[in-house]
Amino acid sequence: MLRLPRTGSLVASFAASIAQKVNPPPTELTGFDQVVDAAIAHWGDQPTRLLQVLRELQEHCNYLPASALERIAQRLGLPLSQVRGVAAFYDFLSLEPTGAYRVLFSDDVTDRMQGSTELMQRMCHRLWAEPGKVTQDGLVSVGHASFLGLPDQGPSLLVNGRPVPRLDAQRIDTLCGLILARRPLDEWPADLFTVHTTVRKRGPLLSDPLQPGDALRAAFARADANGDVAQPVLDEIKRANLLGRGGAGFTTGVKWESCSRMAAQPRVVVCNADEGEPGTFKDRELLTSQADLVCEGMTVAALGIGAALGFIYLRGEYRYLLESLLAVLARRREQGLLGTSIGGRAGFDFDIEIHVGAGSYVCGEASALVESLEGKRGIPRNRPPRLAEKGYLGLPTIVNNVETYCAAALIVLHGADWFRSVGTAKSSGTKLISVSGDCERPGVYEYPFGVTVRQVLDDCGAQRTIAVQCGGPSGTCLDQDEFHRRIAFEDLETGGAFIVFDEGRDMFEVARHFAHFFAGESCGFCTPCRVGTSLLARIMDRISEGKGSEHDLQAMAELQRLLHSASHCGLGESAGRPIAHTLQRFRPAYERRLLAHGVEPAFDLDGALARARRMTGRDDPGAHLGDHA
Ligand SMILES: Cc1cc2nc3c(=O)[nH]c(=O)nc-3n(C[C@H](O)[C@H](O)[C@H](O)COP(=O)(O)O)c2cc1C
Ligand code: SF4
Repeated sequence: MLRLPRTGSLVASFAASIAQKVNPPPTELTGFDQVVDAAIAHWGDQPTRLLQVLRELQEHCNYLPASALERIAQRLGLPLSQVRGVAAFYDFLSLEPTGAYRVLFSDDVTDRMQGSTELMQRMCHRLWAEPGKVTQDGLVSVGHASFLGLPDQGPSLLVNGRPVPRLDAQRIDTLCGLILARRPLDEWPADLFTVHTTVRKRGPLLSDPLQPGDALRAAFARADANGDVAQPVLDEIKRANLLGRGGAGFTTGVKWESCSRMAAQPRVVVCNADEGEPGTFKDRELLTSQADLVCEGMTVAALGIGAALGFIYLRGEYRYLLESLLAVLARRREQGLLGTSIGGRAGFDFDIEIHVGAGSYVCGEASALVESLEGKRGIPRNRPPRLAEKGYLGLPTIVNNVETYCAAALIVLHGADWFRSVGTAKSSGTKLISVSGDCERPGVYEYPFGVTVRQVLDDCGAQRTIAVQCGGPSGTCLDQDEFHRRIAFEDLETGGAFIVFDEGRDMFEVARHFAHFFAGESCGFCTPCRVGTSLLARIMDRISEGKGSEHDLQAMAELQRLLHSASHCGLGESAGRPIAHTLQRFRPAYERRLLAHGVEPAFDLDGALARARRMTGRDDPGAHLGDHA
């Protein structure tokens, strides 16, 4: 059974260990083992620290040497196989040496629309590099990352983990010059790494002039006759009908209340800042300009559910925000807004630690995220039990999106009625929309729920639009007949991505790109998703090469049904949607590529799934694809 110290001392030691991270002790690093030891001195030797230690090793050495993995296994008391398994799971960790300069081009559909393929070719040509390989002198490697979260200022790349947005031929040549001159990154012009703020429309979330502690003071003022603050906070969040902003729209107050009723202590508040859905970047903006509001919302949540531990799970692509976020946390500790007796309230002890991811889309799924927080591979858990019951290390845990916490802070400050006065009957408040693609003014827009797609298109300067991908690849593809639809939980649910395509775009190619995205991001845990996503990508490739047939369209429809019904998590469930939606709305884009009607199918799908049937012990008619499936 898990044994933890009492809450007060736990938070004190938690705070001390975090404070250490703001100013890690200087170390003389002379070899891999010393790097490992320094990382463990920095993070601690708990198995939960494994991913953070691996990430630091990668940052220092540009890869994870086998001998260092052995030392990590020994120091953290873990089997070497587990350490290797975690190292192999995350895209930003590499078991093989990478170049001294590791360049990863963002491979989102919008990056490609803005010319990333040609820019990558230009860089490879200038550096005599081959994509995916290290140059012979070990100087550079050039590859891809799925989505860097910068489509409003793309194309973009990461060099040794640092983002370079707004790429063009000139900037590529500058980068190549700096790399060939072997200039350390710290000496590169700072402008190269500047990520701009692109807020185009502000509402309360992006403009509320909240002072640190305002929402907490308002929460304290809501105390009932017994001096209890937790239940009044929960009641206000429930009354506001705050629905989660991460996409699924679960009722936040219900989630918090069910966690607050669990007996186990301490309880845990987790902020999901993984933001991996292609086309989404609104959390990046909140973490950049509204970090206090995010922390305030998390602390309000801690007050409501009685939590002592908090984590921000920051996607690896946003590693560049780590120092500024740590500074906000340190300041809030000095202001008495984190740590023990927060706001002078005895017994209210809570602190926040930042855990940085390492390149994995599925880690945005709440239970996979909790696995990753525990230092493991990000494989989604079986549920039940729900995270509110048994989450991080088996403790009652809530996981919410960045924007949800911001909204929660404002609800406690201004009240549920204020919140409900904006939006629609079923969708209270405002929503941040990340607009990218074919438009004049990409950026973050804050709208009351209920705004039409047409309004967003007008505001962002989109012209001759043929389609909008609302909610990213796992969301909904809309054509012109649907631009009257409203962004609200009663119509179009969205985590916030809004990708615009004009008449020059080929929606078959967009869907093919998304098919490859899902195939690349499937964690491989369950067969329908592992096999189904890669089959979809292969069939789309065949159709693209002019070798597809009508049978392939039918096969893809079957696969989509299988993915939706038999996948273990939301990734697999939605992986077939881009193809299903574009087939429905842009069928001619598929049909004009087909060879001829009546050609044999590209794959024996039923045969491909034979292994899955053996593994699950099923061979009944329902387990086969075909007319009866
Ligand atoms: C594959 C996958 C990726 C996800 N990525 C994110 C993400 O990056 N951010 C997020 O808040 N929710 C993400 N979610 C949804 C989370 O599982 C969860 O519903 C959400 O964090 C709950 O917060 P909310 O109730 O505040 O929306 C993802 C879900 C799936 C299936
Ligand atoms: S559906 Fe896909 S991503 Fe989800 S658990 Fe299964 S294999 Fe992993």
